Amino acid sequence: MLAIFKTASKEALEEIAEEMRVRQTKHFILLFSMGSQFDHLIVQRLAKLGVFAVVADPASVTADDLRKVAPSGIILSGGPVSVAYDEPPPFDNTIFDLGIPVLGVCLGFQMWAKHVGAPVVLQEKREFGVHTFKRVNDDPLFEGVAKKTQVLETHGDSVQESSALTNLGSTDNTVVAAGRKGHLWGIQFHPEVTDTVEGEKIYDNFIKICGITDRFPAHNVAQTKIEELKKQAAGKKVLIALSGGSDSSVVAYLLKESGAKLKGIYIRGIDRPDDENFVKQYFGSPPAGGWIDVEIVDATDRFLAALAGKTAMREKRIAMRGVYKEVLEQKIKEFQADFIAQGTLYTDVRESGHGHATGARVAEIKVHHNVKLGFSAPELAPLETEVKDSARNIGRDIGVPEDLLVRHPFPGPGLVVRIEGEVTADSLRVARAIDGIYIEELRAADLYKTVWQAGATLTHSMHTESKGDGAGLGHVVALWAVWSVNGFTARFAQLPYQFLEKVSRRITNEVREVGAVVYRISDKPPATIEWG
Ligand code: XMP
Repeated sequence: MLAIFKTASKEALEEIAEEMRVRQTKHFILLFSMGSQFDHLIVQRLAKLGVFAVVADPASVTADDLRKVAPSGIILSGGPVSVAYDEPPPFDNTIFDLGIPVLGVCLGFQMWAKHVGAPVVLQEKREFGVHTFKRVNDDPLFEGVAKKTQVLETHGDSVQESSALTNLGSTDNTVVAAGRKGHLWGIQFHPEVTDTVEGEKIYDNFIKICGITDRFPAHNVAQTKIEELKKQAAGKKVLIALSGGSDSSVVAYLLKESGAKLKGIYIRGIDRPDDENFVKQYFGSPPAGGWIDVEIVDATDRFLAALAGKTAMREKRIAMRGVYKEVLEQKIKEFQADFIAQGTLYTDVRESGHGHATGARVAEIKVHHNVKLGFSAPELAPLETEVKDSARNIGRDIGVPEDLLVRHPFPGPGLVVRIEGEVTADSLRVARAIDGIYIEELRAADLYKTVWQAGATLTHSMHTESKGDGAGLGHVVALWAVWSVNGFTARFAQLPYQFLEKVSRRITNEVREVGAVVYRISDKPPATIEWG
């Protein structure tokens, strides 16, 4: 399988031809990955629609390469670069003149618009989040799409109205939210995210525009992964860090099918109140579990020592990663593991700034604990190409208990990212207490499964409190909860006031250190899901 198309070498052409044979198709779409967090979702959408996509490096692929490889269509994704005031991203603009249908998404649209002479400017009002797109001209790209439809935008630049292209539709602050010039189509919003309600229809229409008729049926991803793991790990010793969450659980079940000799490690210290029990229940002891030998390692003191005096979130994430790596490295040696298995998702890789394209600039958003830690044993990361939702579906396919699959995601650095300022034994205790109350109430109110992720952050802000007679200061706790499909975008969950009131009362009454409770009402974008 070709990871990324860089140039039309003999090998690359053979690989693409081979994949097209397997998928019984004569067509593929070339996706120029410009560095957007959503790139992978485009590939997934196309896969769902039965279309093969090859990811291309915009920095190295030329119009000549394209003549040789002959894609049926081209998609240019979004990215963190501005064509209005930055160095333009490295890209051979003559590709736009080849006559192959192009769909530019966000930055991709701005790139071809500029090439054909439409001005691209820094917009006064940046658009982040959900907006209503109103079509102003009919076009095959919007065949069957409502005249007004919800879309997700995240951009600071926009294409101006100009005789160089036809305007296809607008949103509140963006006059040209979609445009066309001949075989070039562009949209300022992201059809690959679920917040763009008719996004799939738009991709489907583009596929039709490209004349792609022979679509291949989506094949069984889980079985393919098991086959790959069998080749690598059957009969080999594999160490797996289990967290009680869905990703590492899915990896464990995939490995079970591969015939690897598994050893599980659970690292205690910065975990949620109920994680350890989940691991014991489903993996460590019969009758439900018992099929992996799980060792519980209490690393609390090591975490606290490494985190002492650190207040910046990035520093804390790095300190946490250091301990995590140390513990696992020691266990790799003890177990003489041939491999270490990780539940790393594509989201983790992407948001750490390791993306498809080498030429496009990718903003580093978070330091993820399980990305490129450089263990002495080679890493197996079978979910590296998946997002949360698709990883859960793989889990369902291979019989991972639903209880494990529906658990809210929990960040690798654990409670560390839910504590502002220094992490101490005391702040850990408080973070655990507030999380415990919040999650318990979400479950009791039957809201747990309706939200994608929820968390309680112990902030550094202090609030005057009037508990009993004396006035003092207590921490502000920030509660948040989001609705999402994959974590790339999220909307704040509209939890009932009565529910929030109950949680707030319990937290302020039961946790001495807390002075006030607030609820966050920001979406992603512009915010992130975690507070820290
Ligand atoms: P953000 O906050 O980036 O979160 O919108 C997206 C998803 O990633 C989780 N997350 C992390 N996971 N290390 C991780 O392993 C991290 O540093 C980290 N920060 C956020 C977050 O909980 C959400 O599910």
